[in-house]
Amino acid sequence: MQEEKKTFYITTPIYYPSDQLHIGHAYTTVAADCAARCKRMQGYDVHYLTGTDEHGQKIERIAKAKGQEPLAYVDGIVAGIRALWEKLLISHTDFIRTTEPRHQKIVQEFFQKVYDKGDIYKAEYAGWYCTPCETFFTERQLVDGKCPDCGREVELVKEESYFFRLGKYADRLLEHIETHPDFIQPESRRNEVISFIKSGLDDLCVSRTTFEWGIPLPFDPKHIAYVWFDALINYYSALQENELNPQKGKEKFWPADVHLMAKDILRFHAIIWPAMLMALDLPLPKKVFAHGWILLEGGKMSKSKGNVVDPNILLEKYGVDAIRYFLLKEMNYGQDGLYSEEMLVNRINTDLANDLGNLISRTVAMVEKYFGGILPAPTQPEPLDEELKQTAQKAYTEATERMDKLDFSNYLAAVLRLVSRANKYIDETEPWVLARDTAHTERLGTVMYHLVECIRIALILLHPTMPTLIGRVLPQIPLWENDAHITWEEAHTWGKTNPGISLKKGPSLFPRIDIKTLEVNDMTEETKPTAEAQTPAEPTPTEPPKEAPVIEHKPEITIDDFGKIELRVAEIIACEKIPKADKLLKLDLKIGDELRTIASGIAQYYQPEDLIGKKIVVVANLKPAKLRGVLSQGMLLAASDPAHEKVEVLFVNSIEDGGKVS
Ligand code: ME8
Ligand code: MG
Repeated sequence: MQEEKKTFYITTPIYYPSDQLHIGHAYTTVAADCAARCKRMQGYDVHYLTGTDEHGQKIERIAKAKGQEPLAYVDGIVAGIRALWEKLLISHTDFIRTTEPRHQKIVQEFFQKVYDKGDIYKAEYAGWYCTPCETFFTERQLVDGKCPDCGREVELVKEESYFFRLGKYADRLLEHIETHPDFIQPESRRNEVISFIKSGLDDLCVSRTTFEWGIPLPFDPKHIAYVWFDALINYYSALQENELNPQKGKEKFWPADVHLMAKDILRFHAIIWPAMLMALDLPLPKKVFAHGWILLEGGKMSKSKGNVVDPNILLEKYGVDAIRYFLLKEMNYGQDGLYSEEMLVNRINTDLANDLGNLISRTVAMVEKYFGGILPAPTQPEPLDEELKQTAQKAYTEATERMDKLDFSNYLAAVLRLVSRANKYIDETEPWVLARDTAHTERLGTVMYHLVECIRIALILLHPTMPTLIGRVLPQIPLWENDAHITWEEAHTWGKTNPGISLKKGPSLFPRIDIKTLEVNDMTEETKPTAEAQTPAEPTPTEPPKEAPVIEHKPEITIDDFGKIELRVAEIIACEKIPKADKLLKLDLKIGDELRTIASGIAQYYQPEDLIGKKIVVVANLKPAKLRGVLSQGMLLAASDPAHEKVEVLFVNSIEDGGKVS
């Protein structure tokens, strides 16, 4: 008998139809997609639900203002949203619209059942309503008379309404949250919800009578369902058997494994929704996960603020893999994340062009050059190879664990550590030196094999994030026939690459983007830094390769020797050229409470204005010295390539100035 597949049911919020869906919405949808794709690779039967939340006063008003029927108005917008998810390669298995009959029917049944149970009663509602947020507030919840969530005007609402006995479920909710530590994640959000419930839950107004755009209550049709009570039911209604969705029985997937959303709507999902389910004795979702917001300078990106970044434009410019990677990497677990196009470009250049793209192009170029493109079989491993293998296995374990926690940023960090380690392995094994002597051919082949092995593992682990990457790599490294049946587990086993496959250089996977112009590097194929140009190897037997100079090692020092050097994080608060010294820049630094000036020979590599605001590492206890009239009180750390054609200052991202480096 065939064993039943394990199931995984994940949802995003259903979004308000808006023609301004921005990268904030895209984040949630991409994050859920990444989890869904990973679970599929792990052999789960995955149901991924997203959709649109189409009722309510807000939509009715916008449609009226446009002289349209609400449904006609939302139809056009929903088409745009679906098209965006297609471009983002969202692999949802269902898309629910709350205006569909399949949803309306279940919402009415739901209401009737809760009403029959006695958990819905009629009373007079008098309070405040924020239409953009579609949320009720009491007088004392308002901030300066405005909506506590979005700061906009609220309206006084006084009408006959039905109420849901939310307060009745406070104790059961608390008990459930306490006995199910994973129910609300991350931890900090869980604590917020607990204290919110403990501060007292009022019954919830769940119907309106002063407008029409909603689902009529079956027991009193002049009332329409409060849009949130209607919307939350989508997670349930979409699972019911019906002609649109015959194979997705509720028994199979219910309850949801993960409801994913941003923190702004956590309370609806962690309090109201579970209480609604308790009222019907339905099992509760296993996890409600609230991520942070994507912020722009000046606060949360939102439609109403008009500071949205249109994902369509970014997708066009940078490609789907890079956008998905950026979103997932940049947002730290449960925290808010900043967005700027510069950050996006830096991320693409650093992680994707320099680290990943370079590893792949160097490896392919070397296998072509040294072995005519045919990947040799590995021979006896050396300790360095063992270490590389350990790093790969650690990447697999960490990526798996982080992904399970929906910690996308650290999952990707784990994979990128493997990529960096593999790049370092090239520097350590010096293939261009091995290539000089046929006695080392076996060793050289082994090194090549291990590099491809690292690439294979990284590609598998990155597949849920960058769904087109493997397809683009396959013409260069035919690791699989296609990307259809690759399993997550394959990344666990070292040595699955078939020797003998034939590698072939191809176009750059992630072209570098000019940070100043934000233009994708569109040099022609001839001038593009090809894989070969990036390979540190053009050796001829007679002439030592300049890319592989002999590194002069210094005598060994003790940890105490090293401890004598005080390295600190400094912020560059001002920077200018030093007159008549074409190599020197003068940098004014802030190191904690202290201000200092240093002179540094980086004028050929950096423009002063590009350095201001950046944080660097300085040797803080270096004896001051006068350089071209400037008293330099320290020295910054920079990396240079041996030929000194390139210098890169080491920057620090999230540690404040004054921080120690050791
Ligand atoms: O709230 N950063 O829909 P909505 C990160 N219809 N995520 C963001 C974001 C930002 N700046 N802005 C939006 C609704 N999001 C209701 C939901 S569910 C039964 C009903 C994402 O269109 C995030 O997932 O306002 C947030 O929870 C959701 O969009 C809100 O989308
Ligand atoms: Mg919103």
